[in-house]
Amino acid sequence: MPGFKLAIDGPAGSGKSTISSLIAKKMGWTHIDTGAMYRAVTLQAIEQGIDLNDESAYSFLETSHIHYDLDKIFINDRDVTEDIRSDAVTKNVSLVSSFPYVRKRLVSLQKKAAEEGNIVMDGRDIGTVVLPHADLKIFLTANVEERAKRRLKENLKKGKQSEMEKVIEDIATRDQKDTTRKESPLRIAEDAIILDTTHLTIEEVVSKIIELTDKKENKHGV
Ligand code: CDP
Repeated sequence: MPGFKLAIDGPAGSGKSTISSLIAKKMGWTHIDTGAMYRAVTLQAIEQGIDLNDESAYSFLETSHIHYDLDKIFINDRDVTEDIRSDAVTKNVSLVSSFPYVRKRLVSLQKKAAEEGNIVMDGRDIGTVVLPHADLKIFLTANVEERAKRRLKENLKKGKQSEMEKVIEDIATRDQKDTTRKESPLRIAEDAIILDTTHLTIEEVVSKIIELTDKKENKHGV
C-alpha cells in the first residue's frame, strides 16, 4: 500500500468531513468522505422509489457508478453533492447503511479508492474495516449538544433554519442506530487515538492530527 493512509472515524457531527477535507488540502492529499457515498446510495434508492427496507432492491448498485472526487460526490457523473444533504436522505441513511449488501459494495469501492497515494478517509468503520492497516487512526468525539450546535451552524450557512431539539434528536437516533447495527457498527479501533473535540476549534483539531501524522511519517520513513 504505497502512500500514507489516515483513517478518521467518529459519530454524526464530530467534524470528520470538515477536518478531513482541511487536512487533505493542507497536505495535498486525497480526501474520501465515505458518509457521502452512503448518502448517495440513499438518494438513489429514494429517487428510484424502491422499498427501502428490502435489501435485495439495492441490486441497482450493480450498474450505478458512485464516486467521490475533490469534495464532490457523483452518481453516474451527476453531481449530487447538495442533494445528498436533504432531510429525507439524512433520515434514511442509517437504515440503508445497515444492509450488508450495501456495505460490501461500498467498502470494496473505498478500499480500491485508497490503494494509491496519500489518503485521508473519513467515516464510521474506516479504522476497523476499510483500512485496518491504516498508518494512523483517529476517532473524533464531542458531546451531543456541541455536535448539534455545529450541525445547526452548518445548516444556517446553507440558509436552512433548524430546531436545536430536533437536531439533537436526529443525531442521537443516528448514533444509536450506527453503534448498535449488526454489520460493522461504529466502534473505536483498538489502535485509534481518541480526540475529544468538544472544546477544540477546527484549526486546533487539524493541527493536532497533522502533528500526529508527521510523527508517524518520521517514525516509518513513509
Ligand atoms: O451527518 P454526518 O456527516 O455525521 O454523517 P455522514 O458521515 O454523512 O454519514 C451518514 C451516515 O452514513 C451515518 O450516519 C452512517 O449511518 C453511514 N455511514 C456508515 O455506515 N459508514 C461509513 N463509513 C460512513 C457513513
